[in-house]
Amino acid sequence: MGQIIDGKAVSAAVKAEVAEETAKLREEKGLKVGLAVVIVGNNPASRVYVNNKKKACEAVGFQSFEYALDENTTQEQLLDLVNVLNRDDRVNGILVQLPLPKHIDEKAVINAISPDKDVDAFHPINVGKIMIGEYSFLPCTPAGVMRLIESTGTDITGKQCVVIGRSNIVGKPQAMLLLQKNGTVTICHSKTKNLKEVCLGADILVVAIGRANFVTGDMIKEGAVVIDVGMNRLDNGKLCGDVEFESAEKKASFITPVPGGVGPMTIAMLMKNTLTAAKQQAGIE
Ligand code: GUN
Repeated sequence: MGQIIDGKAVSAAVKAEVAEETAKLREEKGLKVGLAVVIVGNNPASRVYVNNKKKACEAVGFQSFEYALDENTTQEQLLDLVNVLNRDDRVNGILVQLPLPKHIDEKAVINAISPDKDVDAFHPINVGKIMIGEYSFLPCTPAGVMRLIESTGTDITGKQCVVIGRSNIVGKPQAMLLLQKNGTVTICHSKTKNLKEVCLGADILVVAIGRANFVTGDMIKEGAVVIDVGMNRLDNGKLCGDVEFESAEKKASFITPVPGGVGPMTIAMLMKNTLTAAKQQAGIE
């Protein structure tokens, strides 16, 4: 039976570190940390994420600035807001919640965010920095996954790491982070042949494909570390990951649950990036 990795506990530890450092910055340097969160339209899932980000800001002692814009906001209006936030000294980090309504070009918006305030690490400059290992911000979900793997005491060096999913937000940067920790990395996706065989070779398996219960126990090597990035809503309203937990748990040495695994880590790492941004902008780091 695999040991369950408690994402809530690990994320609480990260947030506690951030809160402690934030309080110290305020006391010793009079510095406040601020995050601006922009949401356009009424996507209910986005609304939940944005509320959780706001709550996390309060919990770690950040100022949060929320901009809830109407569904019909034009691209120009959104770009104008981003430019205002780029110049606002109270705002150390800017997060524009995705997806945006269809009439807005997401790339144009991401490219408009100052790379120094891009706490999602989505801007091409920050993506490029990850490739060469010279980053200040790591994308929140892959960074959270690394922290969860670390919490198991697993040394990634020389391990066979398989990432299922090749998104810009998770799969691709995840592969780079595992590579930087000296893993031997394979990226799989919907067109991969012999997926089961590839997965069976994985010492560390990170699944971010967005399909409910896609990876089953028979695809998992005995003793593997299994990290499930998926968050799917079933017809019965229940949340489930990309990994079929019951069968996978029997094979894995460590496994993340859904919910309560990777999810809480994403916000914790966002808080960490915002603190890093504030320190850099103040010339402290
Ligand atoms: N939508 C879903 N996940 C994310 C995220 O990590 N950042 C942003 N900006 N939007 C998202």
